[in-house]
Amino acid sequence: MRCSCLFTCFLALSIFLFSCTNSEKQQLSMQSPDGKIRLILDVSTGKPTYTIDFNKIAILNKSELGIRFQDFEIGKNATISSIKETEIERTWKPLWGEKAEFLDHHKGYIVSLEEEGLQYELEFRLFNDGLGFRYHIPAQDGLPDSLLIMDEKTAFNLSDDFTAWWIEGNYDTYELLYTKSPVSKIGEIKNDFNTHTHSTGGFPQNSAHTPLTMQAGENIFLSIHEAALVDYAGMTLLREDGHKLKANLVPWPDGVKVRTTAPLTTPWRTIQLSVKAGDLVTSPLILNLNEENKLERTDYIEPMKYVGIWWSMHLGIETWGKEGGRHGATTENTKRYIDFAAANNIRGVLVEGWNTGWESWYSDDNFDFQTAYDDFDLKAVTDYAREKGVEIIGHHETGGQVLSYEANLEAALDLYEQHGVKAIKTGYAGTMRPEGHFHQGQFMVMHHQKVVDEAAKRGIMVNIHEPIKDTGLRRTYPNLMTREGVRGMEWNAWSRGNPPNHTPTLVFTRMLSGPLDYTPGIFDLTFENFADQMTLWNELDGLETKGRMHSTLARQLAHYVILFSPMQMAADMIENYEGHPAFEFIRQVPVDWDDTKVLDASIGEFVVMARQKEEDWFVGGITDEQERNITVKLDFLDSGDYEAIVYADAEDTDYQINPGAYLITTYQVSSSGTLDLPMKAAGGFAIHFKRK
Ligand code: NOJ
Ligand code: CA
Repeated sequence: MRCSCLFTCFLALSIFLFSCTNSEKQQLSMQSPDGKIRLILDVSTGKPTYTIDFNKIAILNKSELGIRFQDFEIGKNATISSIKETEIERTWKPLWGEKAEFLDHHKGYIVSLEEEGLQYELEFRLFNDGLGFRYHIPAQDGLPDSLLIMDEKTAFNLSDDFTAWWIEGNYDTYELLYTKSPVSKIGEIKNDFNTHTHSTGGFPQNSAHTPLTMQAGENIFLSIHEAALVDYAGMTLLREDGHKLKANLVPWPDGVKVRTTAPLTTPWRTIQLSVKAGDLVTSPLILNLNEENKLERTDYIEPMKYVGIWWSMHLGIETWGKEGGRHGATTENTKRYIDFAAANNIRGVLVEGWNTGWESWYSDDNFDFQTAYDDFDLKAVTDYAREKGVEIIGHHETGGQVLSYEANLEAALDLYEQHGVKAIKTGYAGTMRPEGHFHQGQFMVMHHQKVVDEAAKRGIMVNIHEPIKDTGLRRTYPNLMTREGVRGMEWNAWSRGNPPNHTPTLVFTRMLSGPLDYTPGIFDLTFENFADQMTLWNELDGLETKGRMHSTLARQLAHYVILFSPMQMAADMIENYEGHPAFEFIRQVPVDWDDTKVLDASIGEFVVMARQKEEDWFVGGITDEQERNITVKLDFLDSGDYEAIVYADAEDTDYQINPGAYLITTYQVSSSGTLDLPMKAAGGFAIHFKRK
């Protein structure tokens, strides 16, 4: 990742004391570069608070700042001792991402505070698309060696009862469907579809995960999240009363929230602000608040599409283990997937279930990360993949057994490295062991970092399932490609599935944190092609019949444009792709982009996005249960002529009774034109604009 200062890059360092009265000295007004976001820090009572307005509309009323440690507290009796102000304007290029270049233009303020002999800082950065702030406590005399955080007092006192799209602040899972409601109803509305999480409970009912996206008025959208979560607990948001929110850190088993030492730097608390919902999606604020690339070696990092020995197991057609003679990960089957990938412009093949241990998933020492089942030959498979120009994606399912995985981690990664495997998918499907830990706590933040570090040492990319939430660390560790942390495709196999409004909601909620391994691209939408071989293990939601998709075929294609992931799966069994004309779109679609635009959107209802790669553009549209007719203005195209290959719902497409019907039509277009694109209920469209 390179960073360049292209425009002005000036650093105005000024330390100033306010004039006038003493209480004015203890207030500081901060602004975004365009002056539209204003934050006022007020320490005049000794208790630091902040307020935020956007376009002169109050967003946050006075909201508390501070941290409660085991032996002391900050934020009770503070005074400002100095202020440093900076303005930075620069662009930087990610190794991969939604755009080839990002702008980081912010005003920075470091406020030094003194409180009963303790020195600490509050750091703020205000961008035009939102802001972040964090706490620093330098090492200093008088501080205990070990600091135990019992509570972070940071509050977000919303100025009104905004509309929110939320999932419960479950300490273990993000695999949940969103609810739209006033903030004051967070935690009070239950969705019966939200079953079978890996949760051990223990989280407050009136809480929500971040990113928490809200609408504050016709032209005001905001999302609260965090950036650069390193060696600290994940933050959920507790609704204290009405619409007042407060940081709620995920605890260790003994109730301590964070175990740390000075110097301490907390993650950034972030608030993205925009006049259009789509601008939240293209905001680089979370990435801008992360540090630059720290990896010395990046030559192995390669965004890719992949297929895998995967969906057949979720449908119960094949198995991860060897029970019933239906083992999926055989040498022969893997070679078949490699052949398909090589012939279809797919770079990766994921293999799940090649290593022993799947029969004892829930036992204490479950998975063996090195011993193959007797019908799988890792060397033969990786040699064959190399010959064909395909990458094998290795798998480490841990079932939540973190200590057992850590004990085996280096050897297990060595094994993959020896066989030239340069990507792994990890998984934590299960309640955490050691017991009492949570998926979103500090223990797991540290664990994932360890895996990413060890993988980087061996030239291996990482895709995490049941992960810690994304906070933009991909900028610093670009081998951390993607993660699940979303109720993804798998839920369609063994539950009542994901309703049509799910992905149009994810774009504005979960996806604001970063790439998502949703695993799109199911073509057999009613699971009829292999129905006689399926095992109905989808009793999780009390289903007696097999599940199905709630989507048309064209919408499956649109997800490749809309849901960003630099490792993007074509998730169906390859038999369902062979000879299918619509698979051409998946063959062609890139996974790493030069530019991204949201053309039209309404959160949870519909989204139309355009992404550019070199000379070509790709556009995707998806809708909820409502049919919609969308007219796309083509003024995002560059000058010149394009051939537009449109994959759309057909006249007779019906997601309930005829979901697989689609139309492929080719048009000659240029930037002055428009395209009328009807979307059926739960439908969509996908377009490849080929530069002529
Ligand atoms: C859950 C993951 O999300 C899924 O992708 C994986 O196949 C299973 N666990 C088994 O590891
Ligand atoms: Ca999962």
